[in-house]
Amino acid sequence: MTDFTPRFSLQSEALNCEDSNVWAVSDRAHRLANTGEDVIFLCVGDPNFDTPEPILDFARARLGVGRTHYSPAAGEPMLQRAIADIESKVSPHPCNPDDVVVFPGGTNAIYAVLSCLLNPGEEIVIPEPMYIGYVPICDSLRLSVKRVACPAEKDFAFDVEAIKAAISEQTRVVMINTPVNPTGAMATPGQLRALAADCRERGIWLVCDEMYSMITFARRHTSLRTAAEALDNIVVIDGLSKSHAMSGWRLGWAVARGPLVERLAQFAGATIFGCPQFIQEAAAFALEFDSYFVKQMRDAYKRRRDLIVARIGRIPGLNCYSPEAGMFVMVDVSEVAASGQEFAEALLDAERVSVLPGAPFGRSAVNHVRLTLAAEEAELTRALDRIERFVTHGCRQVS
Ligand SMILES: Cc1ncc(COP(=O)(O)O)c(C=O)c1O
Repeated sequence: MTDFTPRFSLQSEALNCEDSNVWAVSDRAHRLANTGEDVIFLCVGDPNFDTPEPILDFARARLGVGRTHYSPAAGEPMLQRAIADIESKVSPHPCNPDDVVVFPGGTNAIYAVLSCLLNPGEEIVIPEPMYIGYVPICDSLRLSVKRVACPAEKDFAFDVEAIKAAISEQTRVVMINTPVNPTGAMATPGQLRALAADCRERGIWLVCDEMYSMITFARRHTSLRTAAEALDNIVVIDGLSKSHAMSGWRLGWAVARGPLVERLAQFAGATIFGCPQFIQEAAAFALEFDSYFVKQMRDAYKRRRDLIVARIGRIPGLNCYSPEAGMFVMVDVSEVAASGQEFAEALLDAERVSVLPGAPFGRSAVNHVRLTLAAEEAELTRALDRIERFVTHGCRQVS
């Protein structure tokens, strides 16, 4: 019998090339924890809250009445309506339930949107630091990614002029994220309006990932749909993973207009054939239900942010600014280590705290590490004590 040589598609080969460094420190931290070491994990962005009980009850009830069958490809009307209502409430442009397509999570919604908008080799402009998850999506679709730096010296502020300057004849899509993972930066309504107008004039799509729209601390999030004057080249992506601590339910959506909505529904039909009915209905309930739980979680994230920022501010050699939104604090380690990577490795070695190096988020974050807010205050305090001890004793010597 001859040997079987496995051959794979270019799409899956592209995924296989993902930079293995991204989770290297975190993987090592898990291996240490598995051997009984007391490791503190500050690397993940998964809310450390349980999904609120009323949402669980509602899902159980829907399971109990047999909502376990196929659903329309674009989504359950009840959920499409709940999303459209939320969008319409804040925006001068009414949102129709038919403008909404539901996906199993934000990641899948982004994958679907980019699949519908770009061919392999085509150019997408994305500001960095950017969400790590964009990389495998763009790799697998074999897109040409043009990264636009939002530098640390300017607190990673959203820079419309830099984005506009990066757009070329080849650009088909600009994809932004506000509030930004990892930096917590937020685009202003004026910036969104200006960018939307520019993209429309050039005849290109503007996609906005708004996954942290409900986790803002100082001012309210403005959706691209609210800020833009015309919506025909606009796509907004959001979901419940962060706001409602529902990451494992896998529920996200895209809001668009006209022919793109049809394409997205066709794509959803071909790839997922509808999300689970009881999950979609629980999601609709979550959106319509009293937002008290969302506020409670947001307040906890804010307290944790303030705790981290205050403690980091007192550690000589470390610097950070206070993020306006999101679930992370970026810490500048350039005064004490050659890079975020070196700092993260050495911190794990010396003090068993796992943080994410900044480099995978983009060049602008190479001297930073990302700390999550998804940890109890007591745990954060313990971690910050260790970080302080580590820096005080000299990172370089430890590494
Ligand atoms: C900016 C951003 N977009 C999208 C996602 C993906 O969301 P989901 O977990 O719903 O797939 C994440 C998750 O961390 C994120 O941070």
